[in-house]
Amino acid sequence: MKIRILPDDIANRIAAGEVVERPASVVKELVENALDAGARKITVDVEEGGRKRIQVTDDGEGMTPEDARACFGRHATSKLYEPDDLFAIKTLGFRGEALPSIASVSHLVLETQAEASAGTVIEIAGGRVVSEREQAFPRGTEITVDDLFFNVPARRKFLRSESYELSQITTYCTHYALAFPEIHFVLRSAGFEILAAPVTTGFRDRIFQIFGKDLLDQLVEYQKDYGRSGVKVHLFTSRPHVQKYNRNSMFFFINRRLVRDKIILHAISEAYRNILPAGTFPVVILFVSIPYEDVDVNVHPAKTEVRFKHQSFVHDAIRDAILSGLTQDKTIVPMESDGVPTSPFTAPAPQPRIPDSWVSDDPIARESFALELGMRAVMDQAIPLGLNFRASETKTDGCEEPAEFSAYPEFDRVRQEVQPLGQLRDSFIVAVDSSGLIVIDQHVAHERVLFETYLRQKLAGKLDIQRLLMPIIVQLPPRQLVILDSIIPELARNGFEVEPFGPKTIAIKTAPAMLKASAVEKLLVELLDGLERETQVINIEALKKKIAATVSCHAAIKINTPLEETKMRWLITELMKTDVPTVCPHGRPIILRYDLREIQKAFKRA
Ligand SMILES: Nc1ncnc2c1ncn2[C@@H]1O[C@H](COP(=O)(O)OP(=O)(O)OP(=O)(O)O)[C@@H](O)[C@H]1O
Ligand SMILES: [Mg+2]
Repeated sequence: MKIRILPDDIANRIAAGEVVERPASVVKELVENALDAGARKITVDVEEGGRKRIQVTDDGEGMTPEDARACFGRHATSKLYEPDDLFAIKTLGFRGEALPSIASVSHLVLETQAEASAGTVIEIAGGRVVSEREQAFPRGTEITVDDLFFNVPARRKFLRSESYELSQITTYCTHYALAFPEIHFVLRSAGFEILAAPVTTGFRDRIFQIFGKDLLDQLVEYQKDYGRSGVKVHLFTSRPHVQKYNRNSMFFFINRRLVRDKIILHAISEAYRNILPAGTFPVVILFVSIPYEDVDVNVHPAKTEVRFKHQSFVHDAIRDAILSGLTQDKTIVPMESDGVPTSPFTAPAPQPRIPDSWVSDDPIARESFALELGMRAVMDQAIPLGLNFRASETKTDGCEEPAEFSAYPEFDRVRQEVQPLGQLRDSFIVAVDSSGLIVIDQHVAHERVLFETYLRQKLAGKLDIQRLLMPIIVQLPPRQLVILDSIIPELARNGFEVEPFGPKTIAIKTAPAMLKASAVEKLLVELLDGLERETQVINIEALKKKIAATVSCHAAIKINTPLEETKMRWLITELMKTDVPTVCPHGRPIILRYDLREIQKAFKRA
């Protein structure tokens, strides 16, 4: 017999805890078992995000009838024999915990057959064997897990929406597919293929297969062998112009085990420190090989944490490999096709670009005007206008002349008196009224104008929609396809007609008229990145606002855009007509005002 029960002294040294947290953890354990069994093809079928059914089929070595019976025992494993094996784990599994844990909280059917032996079917309900019989199969194993947590209602209640659970499952399958290009992976949800990755010749082809050419083109490939240490790094890391708004595009594997690791994250952020603005992340697909005895995987029950014997060596090796990859890369990234920046994110800015309009911690906003204006004293006291102008209490006491030094001039006066003087760095409109200096962020000001127009048009059912001359084809990673699927109806209500177009691409056929066609793809990608980052179930009200905000952001005048005087005037007038002229839809201030009194004080004239 191959499977044995671990003796207590080994069992007790294994990081214990909950193995099954949600459908995705079941998928992960079953896929890992299939990989350990030497499968060449692994098929995952799920229904209702795995809550109803998870079925994993492999063509690996299978189990003999004795092993099939033994595998549901606690600490029953064929992967560890000697206590010392624990210090050099070569397989993905090693605890002998996964199958008994899954079987105890579901209806499970195991069908398996090893070479030259009889096939076996075992049915288990809530941990109890219901039936067992012989039946012939092709070599391999199929495990079907129905009604997860049927006997643990408290757990079942914690499961999220179907699309959330499915996106988690997709994440794991994508990960393992990346790490094992020599294995054919299939993931289907209710028969619909989400991931189909036939055998390829290496990581590069696999990345192409899963994410498409667009992403692959953004990556630099680099390999380094760190000699006697036995450490080898093979990575794909994004060129500096690529900025992701969450960490979902980072994939780390240590000896092809998927891990989440702070040391690695740190090494990456060090490598990109002066390359990417804060709050943005690169795409990194990282494979590290390391001698088995130099990495401890028995740290956490989920088996995704590791401990390195030579932690700082590994850290520096990863950081240096990324840096070498990036510096060696001489690809010149083309500017936006027509030379006209189509989004504030791609504007040819001399400073860090705005990474994400949803992030309030915006480097441009923070940079203010820098010191070159020599007006630091004034700047320090700059206050966002922060007024609800509509309800302004007048302090004029019937006197025509407005209180010259009032800290907050009333709305009508600003509106009537404001005189644009020019632009600062083609990004901020500098204006005056009779008692102060006003600075307006042109991008967010226009964004506010468009946002309100958009919502008003939508409310009236009169959204201006354009049919695109050519449908825009966008490649999306599998996880985002799942998210997209759940927001298609809301997108349609917002003027975006989006349709599947092949296995990992979609076609956008219409868009709101206020958008330039060239901004449409970026917008959708930003929207999906943002939604992906959110762990909450997607809330329709929030989604509506988010779409409106994203559309206006992408349609708005960009920073670094020269404006003529008439255009500045127009913008200020339109801004003053809005309901909330002081804050942009993402919560950033639109107008700053420096009162004459502050200016006089700074010049010691007070
Ligand atoms: N798909 C499979 N093909 C062949 N054998 C399998 C398969 N799945 C499980 N087994 C056998 O059943 C045993 C128990 O599996 P289980 O997942 O419970 O534990 P493990 O993989 O050894 O450790 P871990 O709990 O860390 O996953 C395995 O050691 C393996 O021998
Ligand atoms: Mg296992």
